[in-house]
Amino acid sequence: MTVAVLTGVPGVGATTVAEEANEALEEHDADYEVVSFGTVMLEVARDEGLAEERDEMRKLPSEEQRRVQEQAGERIAERAEDTNIMVDTHCTIKTPEGYLPGLPEWVLRGLQPDVVVLVEADPDEILFRRLDDETRARDFESTKELATHQDMNRNAAMSYATLTGATVKIIKNPDGGVEDAADELVDALA
Ligand code: AP5
Repeated sequence: MTVAVLTGVPGVGATTVAEEANEALEEHDADYEVVSFGTVMLEVARDEGLAEERDEMRKLPSEEQRRVQEQAGERIAERAEDTNIMVDTHCTIKTPEGYLPGLPEWVLRGLQPDVVVLVEADPDEILFRRLDDETRARDFESTKELATHQDMNRNAAMSYATLTGATVKIIKNPDGGVEDAADELVDALA
């Protein structure tokens, strides 16, 4: 079974690209289940009375985030036993205590990804996508901070690859470029 980890700073459009690619993958007879790590974490956090909304989780004490993250990783690894999965998540999470690794060693051990995909865009485009999305309580990051966040994600992705042997694929998702980004993802996974 193939495990693809799809990442990008919040608001870059990783979820949008995953949904678009998944439809095309079905046409290639390459079935993937798209699993949102944040949604599985939210199920765990709700069960434990820690958070009600996904944007609350990155504000929890880092110790709690790690505990919830570990349980979510275990649940997702179980699903990957019988099906190809595309895990929609983050290489790093920007918390008040600093950058938290999205895939620490104890999560990677269960998931064993084949490829880590980084979806990237220009920081000013990401800034406007976040401001336009009224459905979410997204954090404000300046364009400089977004550029640093994307650099941190590249560094984290190569560490995850070093630990697992996964490849790292960078896909650009410029304004209006969802279809091309999805095509690139399909080429990498079909
Ligand atoms: P999660 O559920 O992943 O939410 P998120 O971080 O906000 O990321 P999204 O998936 O909402 O953003 P996206 O980049 O996919 O953008 P979208 O496609 O919606 O995570 C929630 C929380 O879970 C995290 O904050 C963290 O606390 C926790 N978590 C998750 N993984 C974790 C882990 N591994 N460890 C610890 N904690 C973890 O697109 C955004 C907007 O842009 C949309 O309006 C879309 O239409 C638009 N758009 C997209 N692409 C384009 C384009 N090319 N042109 C124009 N507009 C575009």
